[in-house]
Amino acid sequence: MSRLAVTGATGQVGGRVARLLADLRPRLVVRDASRAPEIPGAVTMQASYDDHDASLAALQGVDVLLMVSASESATRRAEHRTFIRAAAEAGVGHIVYTSFMGAAPDAAFTLGRDHFDAEQAILESGLPHTFLRDNFYLDVLPEFADSEGVIRGPAGDGRVAAVARADVADVAAEVLRAPAAHIGATYRLTGPEALTFTEVAARASAVLDRPVRFEDETVDAAYAWRRAAYGAADFELDAWVSTYTAVRDGQMAEVTDDVHRVAGHPPRSLEDVMLGR
Ligand SMILES: NC(=O)c1ccc[n+]([C@@H]2O[C@H](COP(=O)([O-])OP(=O)(O)OC[C@H]3O[C@@H](n4cnc5c(N)ncnc54)[C@H](OP(=O)(O)O)[C@@H]3O)[C@@H](O)[C@H]2O)c1
Repeated sequence: MSRLAVTGATGQVGGRVARLLADLRPRLVVRDASRAPEIPGAVTMQASYDDHDASLAALQGVDVLLMVSASESATRRAEHRTFIRAAAEAGVGHIVYTSFMGAAPDAAFTLGRDHFDAEQAILESGLPHTFLRDNFYLDVLPEFADSEGVIRGPAGDGRVAAVARADVADVAAEVLRAPAAHIGATYRLTGPEALTFTEVAARASAVLDRPVRFEDETVDAAYAWRRAAYGAADFELDAWVSTYTAVRDGQMAEVTDDVHRVAGHPPRSLEDVMLGR
């Protein structure tokens, strides 16, 4: 049996993958071992991406690795690069990375640029790889609504083919079970349809049985109230506002059948996600 390592196992995507692959007795590479999920047969190793030596030790003997992209931060690119270097030095056989739809140096969604950088680091490392380019998570769209039920951002009538976290995990698990069949592949993971935020709001409202609506706004207005209300760092404001402008500009609208092709089932809908199906 090949040795599988899963990062992000304390989180949503990595946690689901670890549970789906419990029979393979995965090695869980986590930042805090006390929060690792309890999976019979799994072994826990502690490493954060910015800790080269701990990452190198955690990845020794690993044949196939799921690298869940790190939480957003001003140093995320460097963290990713440190971990990828450790993976290459450890001789990992195949790395599966959770990237982002349209990852590019000039991606409208600013964090898509970090994902492009991570993809480049993996390509430069020579590691056999598979990239899972996820659209936005369907799970988080309803959470964009404020306490009054308003989703506000400069998305206009743009469409977003958001994907369920569970579907990302299902695809990752299939790839990790049979990695050789997926070497060099880039999968673009989307939901079953592309929705405007007006449609997202209406459908979330129906499930939640309370009013949810979308309000378009200008980019300047989007920055102004977010800066005033949250005092967030510039990179966070850029990421937040560009979530909407990427949709407005049509960069998130493409629907693919990659979830169905790889996971073997149709992608979940917004209602499926909200109702925990
Ligand atoms: N496509 C989208 O809409 C979207 C939305 C949100 C996030 N994302 C990206 O997708 C990833 C997975 O999503 P998720 O919902 O599973 O997120 P999540 O529940 O927040 O889990 C993230 C996991 O990554 C681990 N992690 C974060 N930074 C790390 C670092 N520097 N070194 C080592 N481990 C680190 C976390 O560990 P701890 O428990 O120690 O924090 C956690 O286990 C996120 O991390 C983010 O990069 C995408």
